[in-house]
Amino acid sequence: MDISVFDTIKNIDDLPTLPSVAMEVIGLSRSAEVSINKVSECIYKDPPLATKVLRVANSAFYRRGATEVDTLHRAILMMGLNEIINITTSVSVLSILPPKGSEGETLRKAFWDHCIATGLIARHIDKKLGMRSMGREFVGGLLHDIGKIILDEYFHKEYMEAHAFSIDVDCPMYEAELEVLGTTHMEIGHFLAQKWDLPGYIADITLYHHQPGEAQYKDITALISISDLLAKAKEFSCGGDRLSFVLTDQPAWHMLKQMGYPVHMIDIERFTFEIEDIGKEVNNYISTFSEPGAEGFVHE
Ligand SMILES: [Fe+2]
Ligand SMILES: [Fe+2]
Repeated sequence: MDISVFDTIKNIDDLPTLPSVAMEVIGLSRSAEVSINKVSECIYKDPPLATKVLRVANSAFYRRGATEVDTLHRAILMMGLNEIINITTSVSVLSILPPKGSEGETLRKAFWDHCIATGLIARHIDKKLGMRSMGREFVGGLLHDIGKIILDEYFHKEYMEAHAFSIDVDCPMYEAELEVLGTTHMEIGHFLAQKWDLPGYIADITLYHHQPGEAQYKDITALISISDLLAKAKEFSCGGDRLSFVLTDQPAWHMLKQMGYPVHMIDIERFTFEIEDIGKEVNNYISTFSEPGAEGFVHE
């Protein structure tokens, strides 16, 4: 190819963009003056987004307590600002890049299934290790491979080739991507995270989830790295990523251990059994987000 895939993607005018209210909410999360009122007022400026965030906050996945929350203010009081900001980010990304694509529907769905499974597994491990990532682990898992969705959307034919290559040669997807497209989903995902002005930890996760030692936000990137491997081990994989591995030999595992997280408390066999139903959880999560209908791409 004459012009590199990465350069082409960087210059695409109508790359999907996050709704402006979502960008504002993410911006507020960085501000020292963030308050419940500011965040809820901001989300209410986009009524369909507010409705979705409330619906998700009331879903079995997030709901705390028996009573339904009917205002964002109350949802924030119950769940905390961080969780609502994370839900807003997840809702926004899933509405502009819905799991159903027009072409290559099955593969697009497989990518999202893998990402959602990674986020759910990260949530389980976070709880077990007492990492208190406060919902960041789920968004991190959800977005870690976002570059794959973009590559598949804009270079579908080549991405199918990379996918087939990874299966034929039995190599990780990022090696196949480099071979066929001259770039990787990490590079593209990182570019997108920066373009969307997502928090630094998400940019870090997109770029380093396969090399967590390089990350600046080491604990959460290591957490996502391990969750990614476990999602693949649970058959939530794409292409030749079904490689066998020993979890306790992984650099991410050692990193968490060195950082003082009680990884020795995780009985791997038992944990694998505990996440046996992860497929069901993934489907529940998708149905929570997908009604009443995905909007499709939002163009600038
Ligand atoms: Fe990846
Ligand atoms: Fe992944």
